[in-house]
Amino acid sequence: MGRAELRDEARRLDCAARNQSGQWLPAIPIAFHHHPTAPRGVDRIVVAPNVSDTSAGRFQIAGSRSKTRERRLVLEKSAKPLRTHPKAALPRKNEMESPNAIIITGASSGIGAALARRYIEDGATVGVCGRNRDRVLSVCGAAPRAIPLVFDVTDPAACETAVKNFEEEAGALDLAILNAGYHLATDAAAFDLETCKRIMEINYFGALNCLAPTIEAMKTRRRGIIAMMGSAAATIGLPNAGAYCSSKSAVARITETLRVELRAFNIDVRLITPGFVDTPLTARNEFPMPFLMPVEEAAALIERGLSSKSYEISFPRRLIWGLRLASLLPRALYFKLAERLLPSERRTD
Ligand SMILES: NC(=O)c1ccc[n+]([C@@H]2O[C@H](COP(=O)([O-])OP(=O)(O)OC[C@H]3O[C@@H](n4cnc5c(N)ncnc54)[C@H](OP(=O)(O)O)[C@@H]3O)[C@@H](O)[C@H]2O)c1
Repeated sequence: MGRAELRDEARRLDCAARNQSGQWLPAIPIAFHHHPTAPRGVDRIVVAPNVSDTSAGRFQIAGSRSKTRERRLVLEKSAKPLRTHPKAALPRKNEMESPNAIIITGASSGIGAALARRYIEDGATVGVCGRNRDRVLSVCGAAPRAIPLVFDVTDPAACETAVKNFEEEAGALDLAILNAGYHLATDAAAFDLETCKRIMEINYFGALNCLAPTIEAMKTRRRGIIAMMGSAAATIGLPNAGAYCSSKSAVARITETLRVELRAFNIDVRLITPGFVDTPLTARNEFPMPFLMPVEEAAALIERGLSSKSYEISFPRRLIWGLRLASLLPRALYFKLAERLLPSERRTD
């Protein structure tokens, strides 16, 4: 990275610096400049006045979007307090802001495809997964760092092979976004067990099939991020989406336990809970979708959320809070309100 680029990046970022004794400095460097008196290749970094260690040397820099990188720096104290981002003062737990090797399941379409394109553009090596080869290849385009992985998430052996093949080509897996999913409206009046099983098979067991080799790969290295694709629909049972809501609730519950159980292995587990996003999956919905969001916007929010420390990346806020509120209502009241979502001939009042 050139000096100008580095400076521009530093301006965009809140950073933290770690000195040679491994200590993270409790201040936020805000700018990189060439140090006029320093030898070539050494930069100056301005830090908050409370930093005691201002010696020159090799420092690791962590920013909210950049991966941790080592640079030769001279630290210089600022005369006045710097604007600081409270979260950026601390190093990332996994010290991995910009993942280099990413697998995204369900990346042949919708949210997964938009995310894959973003990460490819960022320069990461991305395993673009899906069943439809043409769509997978179209997302990969001509990007040399995109690796097409065509498999069905309901096949555990195929998931294992995909993770193995990806790591052989791309190196250690940094981030797995287990996003593949399926939705079909269900109705108890025409109860379709096969559809319910299929939804669970893809949304829940499909994620688990990919989870097994992912945990194995990350556990030995004690490093990595696993992001599970949930949904705002997991907050409460919604009419005509019983199977989908259940599958996403199952995802949400196991993600909570994974978060706790994998912490000791330095595996950072996240949950993504979007509201309505404009994708082929929601294009089938015949009802008005409140706060429907363009897929690019959703992908940007997810990428930003994953580069932060938040456990849950949920949006849009108004829908999420509305559903949370609904889940706190007395049951009888909620059931009455939810009935209004049914066609008029199915309502009891
Ligand atoms: N759109 C929303 O409003 C919304 C809201 C909340 C959560 N979500 C969740 O976000 C995820 C992505 O949804 P989307 O809206 O982007 O839908 P989408 O455009 O229909 O994409 C679904 C993706 O999942 C893949 N997939 C489906 N079944 C699969 C299987 N058996 N094996 C492997 N891949 C499979 C599809 O690829 P192939 O067809 O190539 O296999 C496709 O790439 C889903 O988990 C969904 O539940 C979506």
